[in-house]
Amino acid sequence: VSVAPASRLLIRDLEQLVTPAGRDAPLRGSALADVDWLDDAYMLCEDGVIVSVGRMGDLPALDGDVVELDGRGHCAIPGLVDCHTHPCFAGDRVEEFSLRAAGASYEELHAAGGGILSTVRATRAASEDELERSVRRHAAWMLRAGTTTFEGKSGYGLDRDTELASLRAVAAMGGVPTWLGAHAVPPEFDGADAYLDFALTEVLPDAAGIAEAADVFLERGAFDATHARRYLEGCRDAGLSLRLHGDQFSESGAVSLAIELGARSIDHLEATGTDGARALARSDVVGVLLPVSAVFLGRPMPAARALVDAGAAVALATDFNPGSAFCESLPLVCSLACSQLRISPAEALAACTVNAAHVLGRADRVGRLAPGFAADVVLLEAPDWRYLAYHLGGDVVGAVVRGGDLAWSRNRRTAS
Ligand code: NIG
Ligand code: FE
Repeated sequence: VSVAPASRLLIRDLEQLVTPAGRDAPLRGSALADVDWLDDAYMLCEDGVIVSVGRMGDLPALDGDVVELDGRGHCAIPGLVDCHTHPCFAGDRVEEFSLRAAGASYEELHAAGGGILSTVRATRAASEDELERSVRRHAAWMLRAGTTTFEGKSGYGLDRDTELASLRAVAAMGGVPTWLGAHAVPPEFDGADAYLDFALTEVLPDAAGIAEAADVFLERGAFDATHARRYLEGCRDAGLSLRLHGDQFSESGAVSLAIELGARSIDHLEATGTDGARALARSDVVGVLLPVSAVFLGRPMPAARALVDAGAAVALATDFNPGSAFCESLPLVCSLACSQLRISPAEALAACTVNAAHVLGRADRVGRLAPGFAADVVLLEAPDWRYLAYHLGGDVVGAVVRGGDLAWSRNRRTAS
């Protein structure tokens, strides 16, 4: 009987190895800033899983085959987790971007049939193959920025075939699929209820077999709280976890609905006031902050510091999409979190690792550098791990290990 030899990877001579402390998720309050920190460190992985981390002086003698990665000049942090992206679309919105630069607002463009609906037209016209290529391309961008786990929403099809093809494309490219079946009311339907009649009877049964969660855009001009409740209750009954886009432009009852329905997260929160922040802090719903989308649209930032200080569990994500956040970089999100949201580097790290993994129901497997966790690691080419946030827009990611394999490196620009 021959047994395949274990595949082992040793990352050695790291300047620092830094991970959110403990095993709990989600982290909140002072625990959000609690990191374990080793200097002159190693990490040993076997069959895609971390088996030990420690100081180089304590590295045990290793027999047999071990692939070695030289960590000199690098700091290791957990592979980043992007818990909110819209990576499956065709076309772009560069024309709209230019119009906004000249003064048009996102909501005006949306009301005029542009915005999300212009991407819906382009996405409906694409083949499943093209949709898969779009997710592949965007997932490759994310990987180079240090993202080893990404969530990907549908929501640019809004018809049966394109929504299901979008979910399949996200899953095929290794993403965690979320059915954003209630992103906008497509023009062939006379109002939100007529569209939801269709989506819940014709699309949900199959979407629930592919997606892990459902999401809704609860906002003036999209779906109101009554529509959102109807959609989310239907999705919950079909076994999906719940997410909401809420309080992006206006407070429209999304926070209380998210809490009542036990949603995994409410995302955006730029318009959330003091009462909403307090309610969220008392709940188990994670507040997902998307500072790139506020910057991209020239909108106010969410009151992140107040949320964290009130005790809310928060995550950080890119919101990568063609309209409101054409940016795949979680390091840039961390920079904005520190400079615009007054979140510390340690809090930002937990927010886009452990807490984001919790939103995706994976906090037992990803988001920490500890024995038993997936060997997903970002090697920052920097003398201090806080360069993750410090180097604004910098090319700070030197290499990315995913599942124990070198998936991307600055020197060997190949993906495995
Ligand atoms: O999270 N706000 C709704 N959905 C996306 C934007 C989608 C788009 O503009 O294409 C968001 O910002
Ligand atoms: Fe979004």
